Amino acid sequence: MAFYSRVSGSVGVITLQNPPVNALSAAVRQGIVDTMHRALSEPEVKSVVICGQNGKFCGGADIREFGANMRGPPLVPMIHLIEAAEKPVVAAIEGVALGGGLELALGCHYRIAHSKARLGLPEVTLGLLPGAGGTQRLPRLIGVPAALELITTGRHATAAEALQLGIVDEVTDHSAVDAAVKFAQSVAGKSLDARRISTYPSPRSPDLAEIFEKAMQEVRRSARGAIAPVTCVQAVHASVTLPYAKGMERERELFSTLFTSGQAHALQYYFFAQRAVSRWSTPSGARWDTSKPRPVRKAAVIGLGTMGRGISVSLAQAGLSVVAVETQEKQLLEAKQAVSGMLERSAKRRGVPLADDKIKYNCSVQAVADVDLVIEAVFEDMALKKTIFQQLSGICKPGTLLCTNTSGLDIDELASQTQSPELVVGMHFFAPAHVMKLLEVVYGPRSSPEALATAMEMGKKMGKVSVAVGNCRGFVGNRMLKPYLEQAFFLLEEGATPEQVDQVLEEFGFAMGVFKVSDLSGLDVGWKVRKADGLVVPGSTGKSARIRGGSRYSPLGDLLCEQGRFGQKTGRGWYHYDKPGGRVAKPDPWLHGFLEEYRARHGLVARRIDHQEMLERCLYALINEGFQILQDGIAAGPEDIDVIYVLGYGWPRHRGGPMFYAGLVGLDKVLERLEHYHQVYPDVLGLKPCSLIRKLAASSSPPIHRWREFIQKPRSQL
Ligand code: CAA
Ligand code: NAI
Repeated sequence: MAFYSRVSGSVGVITLQNPPVNALSAAVRQGIVDTMHRALSEPEVKSVVICGQNGKFCGGADIREFGANMRGPPLVPMIHLIEAAEKPVVAAIEGVALGGGLELALGCHYRIAHSKARLGLPEVTLGLLPGAGGTQRLPRLIGVPAALELITTGRHATAAEALQLGIVDEVTDHSAVDAAVKFAQSVAGKSLDARRISTYPSPRSPDLAEIFEKAMQEVRRSARGAIAPVTCVQAVHASVTLPYAKGMERERELFSTLFTSGQAHALQYYFFAQRAVSRWSTPSGARWDTSKPRPVRKAAVIGLGTMGRGISVSLAQAGLSVVAVETQEKQLLEAKQAVSGMLERSAKRRGVPLADDKIKYNCSVQAVADVDLVIEAVFEDMALKKTIFQQLSGICKPGTLLCTNTSGLDIDELASQTQSPELVVGMHFFAPAHVMKLLEVVYGPRSSPEALATAMEMGKKMGKVSVAVGNCRGFVGNRMLKPYLEQAFFLLEEGATPEQVDQVLEEFGFAMGVFKVSDLSGLDVGWKVRKADGLVVPGSTGKSARIRGGSRYSPLGDLLCEQGRFGQKTGRGWYHYDKPGGRVAKPDPWLHGFLEEYRARHGLVARRIDHQEMLERCLYALINEGFQILQDGIAAGPEDIDVIYVLGYGWPRHRGGPMFYAGLVGLDKVLERLEHYHQVYPDVLGLKPCSLIRKLAASSSPPIHRWREFIQKPRSQL
């Protein structure tokens, strides 16, 4: 709702009230309309201020209302009522003015912002466009290039930038409401002719055609199949080709097509999923709201390779004192330089003070005695990690949380090396660790709720989205990757090329196909793991070369590694690169010949595999594993899996995540295709539909928010 008051006798103040972000729910819109009419009808009131309760102007339309039938007054006429008012209306922007919130402010005659406020039109991130005049007013106010950039990226601008762009008229370090009231008094009675943005002429410039063409190219390149950014460009285009009223009609038309699209549903689902993962729970009943994190002021990182460096940067930027330990002298020197460079670049980019002095380097693990939390990031080698956990347990002060960045080793085996296994958890970062937003926090059967809560909180402090997951081989992300990769290998055996598989996945929306990603990460990484698991059998021939444990196995990746082809780092992998470390993947005739020779050796006849089969086999195998993970209680809900895949594995956000996508395709359809492929390939375990997807499909495929009801509570894990 909206609350009305009168200040200094002549200023009507309308305060939006809808915690936590004063979203424009039906009640708020009704409140604004009612209080505006009141302010306009009171003769003593000469001007109006619109502000939000609790230091937040407005977070935009109420996203929770999108699924329901529209009630209450619509936004567009409400904003027109404000703009058409004969008394000056001033928006007092504190906190945020986002989406419909900024559109409301653009309908006001003046805008005053607090210096810490953020303004933007983030609708594109929800699969929408600013549908309350934003695409028509903003270009008229600040010009096409700046409006296009803000609308197609959805990024938030600072108050200073908003002032520079001309979005706001004044910025204050004090109360924006007080400043707005003062301002409102000063403009009372003045003509508003020049203040109604909808009456401004369409933006003109000789190079507009070129600007739009470039913008369209840019969004098509970066959007990877997302329709909202492209539609945003079309809507802004209407502001230069059509008069305001017609432009509004076009905006509404385009908005309607987006509003009902699967992509908008996926992105809105994802918006809430990303927030839901912070409300974690475990099968044993430990919960986010009943488990108190411990304070962490000083942390240590052990091993300053690729991951340890990024983790140290993240910790320092979160304001912690860091002890960074690396035993190899050369590595230590290189790490120091690399970390300083990363911190410097980041400080420049984010405009924050340099955090270099937060990190103290050391070549001995003894230096970590007084820290509150340790993150181990040495080689992926169980024996080495065990030794380190034994050492840490002896060196660290009692109560220190011991974390590992392992990509998939057993957390409990490491915990068993320590005197306090309840203080051991996994903190699985993704490379580059100071950039990637995802953190899998892995609890073992003996990790305490407090340890889990501390690691989750630590991740948040580091600016990560932390997802709590159970302990199993590969946890959630890497465990699901295995059947996906396996299918990609099998497709090569059956006749596809890496380029064909990658193209299908990239057309689906992944930034990179599976083979390009493997080349980037290094093929030797998986090879080492497979070797440790006894899966690599060099020189094996005949049928046994392609079977492990009774299940189909492809040794293709192992054979490439045996040839020294480790991907980008060696200049050769699934693709050819111009030099070691090269980035541009080119199809490799050698590899095509190698695949032909491999097929001939194993009596495999290449066939033409269509797009649909490649996509379904890769994705449905991954999704099937996701259902198994839910059934095993490793992830608490489908949202956890989807957030992990979008943030950690390049799953296109506009497709919601693998579990959401399965629901969108239809669980019965996914099940039917899995059954079909499993019938064709009975020796591929990953294609055997897991019982949870069967159960859900048999129960008329309930909506995703009800899946948890169908998951049997697994045994207590915590
Ligand atoms: N509608 C409904 N709920 C919203 C909301 C919105 N617009 N914005 C935030 N919330 C909810 C969140 O879901 C969260 O709820 P829970 O506590 O139940 O999880 C709560 O408000 C707090 O949000 P955050 O955890 O994100 O808090 P924050 O302080 O980190 O961030 C924020 C605040 C920057 C406003 C962020 O919430 C945000 O970006 N919100 C979305 C803004 C947006 O996209 N607005 C456009 C809406 S679409 C639109 O306006 C269409 C149109 O043109 C007509
Ligand atoms: P890396 O090989 O780049 O670095 C490991 C570092 O640990 C080396 O600098 C090495 O000298 C150091 N080290 C070895 N023994 C040590 C000891 N006893 N004390 C101190 N330092 C020691 O390895 P990377 O890639 O950083 O991986 C580290 C861990 O992170 C592994 O467990 C890996 O599985 C995991 N991981 C790696 C990811 C990646 O993309 N590289 C992603 C997520 C997790």
